[in-house]
Amino acid sequence: MLVHAIATNATYEFASDVRAGLSRPGQKELPSKYFYDDVGSALFEVISRLPEYGLTRADERLLRRHGSDIVDRVPGPVAVAELGSGSGRKTRWLLEALSRRQRTFYYPVEISHSALIMCERELRDIDSVSIVGFEREYLDGLLEVAACRKRGQHLFVLFLGSTIGNFDRLAGIKFLANVRKVLVPGDSLLLGTDLEKPPLQMLRAYDDELGVTAAFNLNLLSRINRELDADFDLAQFSHQATINSAARSVEMHLRSKRRQAVTIPASEVVVELQEGETIWTESSHKYSANEIFQMASDSGFHCEAQWIDQQWPFAENLLIAD
Ligand code: TRP
Repeated sequence: MLVHAIATNATYEFASDVRAGLSRPGQKELPSKYFYDDVGSALFEVISRLPEYGLTRADERLLRRHGSDIVDRVPGPVAVAELGSGSGRKTRWLLEALSRRQRTFYYPVEISHSALIMCERELRDIDSVSIVGFEREYLDGLLEVAACRKRGQHLFVLFLGSTIGNFDRLAGIKFLANVRKVLVPGDSLLLGTDLEKPPLQMLRAYDDELGVTAAFNLNLLSRINRELDADFDLAQFSHQATINSAARSVEMHLRSKRRQAVTIPASEVVVELQEGETIWTESSHKYSANEIFQMASDSGFHCEAQWIDQQWPFAENLLIAD
């Protein structure tokens, strides 16, 4: 696989994002894109196999069962761009269905280098699919993929795993509108969305009994220790998942067990935390199947079709650019 990576000063950006998030007044926060270093990506792979976290399996089940239907409704010929491919395991079902119809270029866009490598290993055996990876943030990567598009070729964008839910509702619509700007009418977007379920089930999905999700969340502090030379004492923090019923989301926090100060040399900051104070790391919004139609039209698409998993309420939504 060809991998396009960019030489940015990644550590400098990480250090300044950490400083900004931890020195803001009020709720401290860390950007969730930093979860996915090598350790975090591997932990997420484990999360996706936990009995409590049915999301990834529902996503994959839908793509396996309905891959051909989905692809049949996508106007072609297409090049496929996936925003946040992860391991690429569930994408196989779509690529296999597509490769029966056409020779296919697949462009995974991923900030995690190790996930990109895993993804190409996972998918390289599929006949008539060529893989070109972009180690980029979503929109930057998508712009580059769009620049590779050939005359008469449509783009088929995949945004699976309900990553859209990590934006709040308004920001999610803005993000979709930004994706839409890169597309032309008739291009398509397959959007995975996790649907609302009973509160206890939602909570358990983000606070499993084995503690893998806790480790995944705490790894963010561990990563700051490794890469920015900080002195977070992980034993003094706990993972916390709570339901925000007004926002219809599950919120993930790291809670300080006592009053403490943490030094982060590369960010040139000393952070003070009160007992019980939290650092917000991610929110995962949940949807009703109906609201996706409105989200689609608010962002310049229409929702052409929707497939819902009954075992773990989750929807694949096929959006066509208007
Ligand atoms: N973005 C995924 C989700 O919202 C990833 C995830 C799973 C996650 N478990 C987590 C993010 C725990 C933070 C903490 O489902």
